[in-house]
Amino acid sequence: MRAVMTSLELQEKLTVQDLIAERDLTRGDIDLIFGLAGRMKRSPASFARALEGKQLAMIFEKPSLRTRVTFEVGITSMGGNAVYLDHAKPRLGERESIRDVARNLERWVDGIVARTFSHAAVLEFASYASIPVINGLSDLLHPCQAISDFFTLEEKFGALEGLRIAFVGDGNNVCHSLMMMAAQTGAVLNVATPAGFEPKADMVEDALACAKGTGAKLVFFKDPFEAVEGAQAVYTDVWASMGQEYAAHLRSQVFAPYRVTDELMSAAEPGAVFMHCLPAHRGQEVVDSVIDSPASIVYDQAENRLHVQKAILLLLLRNGQ
Ligand code: CP
Ligand code: NVA
Repeated sequence: MRAVMTSLELQEKLTVQDLIAERDLTRGDIDLIFGLAGRMKRSPASFARALEGKQLAMIFEKPSLRTRVTFEVGITSMGGNAVYLDHAKPRLGERESIRDVARNLERWVDGIVARTFSHAAVLEFASYASIPVINGLSDLLHPCQAISDFFTLEEKFGALEGLRIAFVGDGNNVCHSLMMMAAQTGAVLNVATPAGFEPKADMVEDALACAKGTGAKLVFFKDPFEAVEGAQAVYTDVWASMGQEYAAHLRSQVFAPYRVTDELMSAAEPGAVFMHCLPAHRGQEVVDSVIDSPASIVYDQAENRLHVQKAILLLLLRNGQ
């Protein structure tokens, strides 16, 4: 406890108990996470006992490299422990209701990270578990990714207000989360998707409503070259997300004009960075010469998942003390 009190002033608290969606956060929450993540990145040893004895359950219906490793390493590096529950088979709710899983887990552990297909499943965990629930990716959102990515952008560019970002590809979970983070932070986000693969209308509506209060700008395009014009960061993601593998062949034809190539990068602002949440399907949504270029910051994004999620864990799990 002493280590926690010296490394994190007690008045520093998030306004939420769970981390489900970016829209639930205030700008103050985001700044708090960023500030703490920065301190953790600079001085990880100061936080070595910050979550001593805390237990984290990680319940995943889908595969993961980054989210799993960064949460496991993150809590362990603060003196806690993680238990991984592979729910690829049976799916959540098949063997036992989510309500019962949540009510069992809360008796043993201090927090839950859930990676699910349906977003409703994460919400169900949060509604039945009295302990913090963190969305480790659902079909709708990937908040830990987008929060980390905006931390990375702030590191690279300084202010987020007015920063010009282009997302090119599928209007998927990562796109939704980036839209909400852009709206929250006052950034400018151009989104280019093929017809029929736009972000969900209610997500667009939410992000536009949030943008009104922050000066953020969200603009939607079909043409990827128009979308990247003036962009300081060009972001893409896979064309078929986890669970959509059956449609990968069809999608690879529809999305081909949205591939991030050297030509597309040269249509962006000179010095623009390339971003991807990873895993990347090299040769599909991005070519090797872009992802391996000096402009690519994909491994910085991956590294920052660790620092940002450690901050989220400390703020949420310590709040429960
Ligand atoms: N970006 C991301 O969440 O990676 P994983 O699917 O490997 O966790
Ligand atoms: N949109 C991708 C992100 C993976 C981190 C998916 O859901 O598979």
